[in-house]
Amino acid sequence: MVDISIHAEHIGKRYILGQQQRQETLREAISTTIRTPFQRLAKISGQRSNKQFFWALKDISFDINEGEVVGIIGRNGAGKSTLLKILSRITTPTEGCIKLYGRVGSLLEVGTGFHLELTGRENIYLNGSILGMRKRDIESNFEEIVKFADIDSFLDTPVKHYSSGMHVRLAFAVAAHLDPEILLVDEILAVGDAEFQKKCLGKIKDVSGEGRTVLFVSHNMNAIEQLCGSCMMLENGTIKRYGLEVREMVKEYLFGAEGCLKTSEWINRKDEFDNPWFKPLHFFLGDADGNNSIMPVNNDSEIYLYLEGDVKLLHPALCIGYAIYCDDGTLLYWSFQTDGLEENWIKLSKGINVLRSKIPGRFLNEGIYRIECIGRLHSGQWLFEPGRNAPPIFLTIQGGLSDSPYWMSRRPGILAPVMDYRGKSHVPGR
Ligand SMILES: Nc1ncnc2c1ncn2[C@@H]1O[C@H](COP(=O)(O)OP(=O)(O)OP(=O)(O)O)[C@@H](O)[C@H]1O
Ligand SMILES: [Mg+2]
Repeated sequence: MVDISIHAEHIGKRYILGQQQRQETLREAISTTIRTPFQRLAKISGQRSNKQFFWALKDISFDINEGEVVGIIGRNGAGKSTLLKILSRITTPTEGCIKLYGRVGSLLEVGTGFHLELTGRENIYLNGSILGMRKRDIESNFEEIVKFADIDSFLDTPVKHYSSGMHVRLAFAVAAHLDPEILLVDEILAVGDAEFQKKCLGKIKDVSGEGRTVLFVSHNMNAIEQLCGSCMMLENGTIKRYGLEVREMVKEYLFGAEGCLKTSEWINRKDEFDNPWFKPLHFFLGDADGNNSIMPVNNDSEIYLYLEGDVKLLHPALCIGYAIYCDDGTLLYWSFQTDGLEENWIKLSKGINVLRSKIPGRFLNEGIYRIECIGRLHSGQWLFEPGRNAPPIFLTIQGGLSDSPYWMSRRPGILAPVMDYRGKSHVPGR
């Protein structure tokens, strides 16, 4: 029989709207419990002062078995981080209860779990002892942690002087190497370089291979599919779906549920994605003259992407473009207006600019594609980030796959290009 590793029963978390609450510490949690008789009174006075409450999580119940690797997905603000904070006891639920069977290692937001005045070395020992490990067990893992985090020369520097990348590297190394029975990981792929991300994914795979339970929050759908045996989709603080069909859920996350309207035009009606450099205003698919495309389009037609936005501050290395995903969530490619030779980059000027990019005909396969308008500065700072926080539109391609009588239906493979062939005949013996 499989043992349960995490049991959650009707968890709810309520925040006061517009008020950024401090994280509750263990000491505060204890004093809250002691003050329980007075809590009702406080609640009543809260209602009297007309405070607006907001439920970040509501009625969350689930059981996770030992050894399961569960991906947690959902849009920004869905409640993913709140759930992990509750499970790692960084914050307490407003209602409901949780039971965790095993030692928990967690990598949440930068700043949680470390004492900033203490050095990297001291924090490793502190975290180990909080996890209930003996000194000699921490020592036996110490070198591996330092090696994994790659911070040897900063080991005796207070953590407050670490860069955010170093902080995350150490936090992940500690969480993953101190022998946790349950590992909670929030969004590690958003920080750190590509090499470190690869190392983290490898480590999570190892930990899960050892039969540990892993909860993994990510906006990277490829990583979710690669790592997780099951998936929980949160929406507005509730569980929308939870089950083994990871691939289907990833598809639903990227493309919406069946029957939902998939539009090939996005207009910034709610004044979203504002930033000091480039605010996207209008993003759509059209023909060469700028007329909106009518879906589905044939595979042999040229499709144009129009990106209209307000350049508020000129930045020499502003990269605007798009990311395109096929319906299983695989990223096909990213494209930016700065991909070519620098002298050929489009010169943006302050005010409204419209960029146009062509997706050639006879290139994509039959199917539905998600296209996101993406933007970043060359420093790596995202203005609207693929897979995480970027305006999406959808492209549906049907028919026109080739002029050959043999390919009337969808071709196998991700793409369906018609390549050029040249040939010569050599008749043997002549
Ligand atoms: N301390 C807080 N005080 C008030 N509201 C909060 C607090 N922490 C989170 N929230 C709100 O709770 C909701 C859920 O936040 P949470 O951070 O769990 O979302 P998330 O799914 O992790 O989003 P993201 O994908 O952006 O990381 C959001 O609307 C957020 O604004
Ligand atoms: Mg989060």
